[in-house]
Amino acid sequence: MTAEKIKELVAQMTLEEKAAMCSGADFWHTEAIERLGIPASMLSDGPHGLRKQNQEGDHLGINDSIKAVCFPAGCGTAASFNRELLMEMGETLGNECQAEGVSVILGPAVNIKRSPLCGRNFEYYSEDPFVASEMAGALIHGIQSKNVGTSIKHFLANNQETRRMSCDSRVDERTLHEIYLAAFEGAVKKEKPWTVMCSYNKINGTYAAQNHQHLTETLRDQWGFEGYVVSDWGAVNNRVEDLKAGLDLEMPGSNGANDKMIMGAVLSGELDEGVVNEAVERILNIVFRYEENRDKNAVFDKDKDHEMARKVAEETIVLLKNEGVLPLSDQQKVAFIGKYAEKPRYQGGGSSHINSHKITSALDAAEGMKNITYAQGFDDAEDKTDEKLLAEAVEAARNADVAVIFAGLPEKFESEGFDRKHMAMPNCQNELIEKVAAVQPNTVVVLHNGSPVEMPWVDQVKGVVEAYLGGQAVGGAVCDILFGKVNPSAKLPETFPIRLEDNPSYLSYIGEGDMVEYREGIFVGYRYYDKKKMDVLFPFGYGLSYTTFDYSNLTVDKEQMKDTDTLRVTVDVTNTGSVAGKEVVQLYVADRESTVIRPVKELRDFVKVELAPGETKTVTFTLDKRAFAYYSVRVHDWHVETGEFDIMIGKSSREIMLTKTVTVESTEKLPFVYTTDTTMGDVKKDPRAWEIVKGIMSKGLFSEEQGNSEGESAAEAMTQEMNDAMVEYMPLRGPISFGGQVTMADVQALVDKLNALEE
Ligand code: BGC
Repeated sequence: MTAEKIKELVAQMTLEEKAAMCSGADFWHTEAIERLGIPASMLSDGPHGLRKQNQEGDHLGINDSIKAVCFPAGCGTAASFNRELLMEMGETLGNECQAEGVSVILGPAVNIKRSPLCGRNFEYYSEDPFVASEMAGALIHGIQSKNVGTSIKHFLANNQETRRMSCDSRVDERTLHEIYLAAFEGAVKKEKPWTVMCSYNKINGTYAAQNHQHLTETLRDQWGFEGYVVSDWGAVNNRVEDLKAGLDLEMPGSNGANDKMIMGAVLSGELDEGVVNEAVERILNIVFRYEENRDKNAVFDKDKDHEMARKVAEETIVLLKNEGVLPLSDQQKVAFIGKYAEKPRYQGGGSSHINSHKITSALDAAEGMKNITYAQGFDDAEDKTDEKLLAEAVEAARNADVAVIFAGLPEKFESEGFDRKHMAMPNCQNELIEKVAAVQPNTVVVLHNGSPVEMPWVDQVKGVVEAYLGGQAVGGAVCDILFGKVNPSAKLPETFPIRLEDNPSYLSYIGEGDMVEYREGIFVGYRYYDKKKMDVLFPFGYGLSYTTFDYSNLTVDKEQMKDTDTLRVTVDVTNTGSVAGKEVVQLYVADRESTVIRPVKELRDFVKVELAPGETKTVTFTLDKRAFAYYSVRVHDWHVETGEFDIMIGKSSREIMLTKTVTVESTEKLPFVYTTDTTMGDVKKDPRAWEIVKGIMSKGLFSEEQGNSEGESAAEAMTQEMNDAMVEYMPLRGPISFGGQVTMADVQALVDKLNALEE
């Protein structure tokens, strides 16, 4: 429907109808207005499958939803680093929504993994905003290609579950832009999600729902977002203020109480009716976009989509350690140990919980393979070693050629609604791994978890496979990796620290009462570990393969460029092993010297390539200004500082293979305001300014050259070096106190002259 038609429709609506349109008719539907031909429109969770509830809605995954297909959760799909794969998964989800009459699927969820403890990390993508935004963008692209809307969530700075409905995330401006907004920015600008879901929390004192700065200025004015903003379920607390801030649709609704509030505010003149009209227009635009593009032939073929879930899972499994033990052969006697071999943990708790139509465990997948035995090993109902299960497992391991332990985090450890208290796996599982490894040198651990865990046994086992929460088809995918039918190609989208205390947010996560300060600033994840040169368990971007890759011929199309130019980077990647494989080629940029505090390097692009044995492909990247920029709080915008930048190609953040250096020249000068507090050192940076100022130095105690101020004993005692340092950091007003021959009026006159230079 055209914008004019929608305006005409809104013009025919009564104020009451418009107010009602601004919130849900029930838990999952928007209002219908029959007399105007406006249909109800259904929204459903997301993000890694369809949680469509036919009756009794809830937002915590408590009541049943229709049988559907559970894909790998965000933690895993991000590890694929495969945009095309996420698009395909998105197309599948979009088709499911068409078949089920769902207009908007509530996801993807892109919040940054600030701490390994966040209860919803399993749903989220990465500690790096570029990865989060790119993977989200790919999923959005796929879903929306089927004319179904997405709701990128939870906007903004919602990085913990503790007090999620009341806590205030205190984040400085630069960090917000470089890390937390950036996770949304690329996806919103490029893929234009139909809706954005605002989070429960406050951002720097203002509830997200009430945050005009972010819902309107950032999202709409700067990023060009044109869809509607929907509240997280229950995130509205002041309907009138929220509307003014840019929150269009309240979900689920307030049984009409907020409709009355909206009407009252319009009638009293407190709220401009135009604001309501605009919100309704945005909602209707999406309602009709879906309605007019219904695919009546869409069929939700669950078995077919299960195969898609398996295909996705195969690329989300990260091989973390392999000392010659994998892949397994079907000739080996293999003991599958651990409850998750039989009952995999494949999804997290809460609103994303899918009612899976079937689940394939590793044991199911291995059915028919003669050399496999199974021992349960532990029970995850409580964290207590079951001596009988343990003994059986050790015995099974002893009698096999290889032991594969399926371990991880029990469901009660990670869910929406609360955070983990520690990063450890249950003691009973750690004990099981240690005891099995003591009798079986060929021990492999397969982990099912949505977020990093400590691995006290890592040196005692030969293999570690991170299966994340791999969706309902995970068992088949894990077996394909274990037995080499699929070559692992996923990489970690987050750092696994050795211990929780190493994490940069450790000192301030989860805050005090209702306030959480993001004190680590921009130093989230590898940005921190790299800067501190810290050892980590497994670094960001890391993951092994059954083949090997070589990198050569790194080229840049220019060595000198302006920040308005683009830079073309190419590199050759060769599969030097004997099996086909996929490699995630990572491009990091490092500012060699900067006047602002910056990370050592930042991921600016990645490409996944598939290579046959012996094959070489050339990978191309195009970098623009943003790849070199930091967010300047002086100009409230991205800025590049003139200087040298390293273009680094890596297999991981800790394995840089090739580097080239380019010089980038800034086309913008940051405005500089001189005051009487400006230091001489800063004045010297502009020779014209120093020319004006240097005269007053000889009138004070310190001179530019030591020895000029004859007769001053203190000055005589001073070395040239000390003198230089004193001058460097002396404010313009300094000579007043030290020499007495300059007045504040003289200094102010100089400051005015200096500022005139800037104009
Ligand atoms: C969650 C959202 C979800 C919504 C609807 C909320 O509790 O935070 O992610 O989409 O419920 O179920």
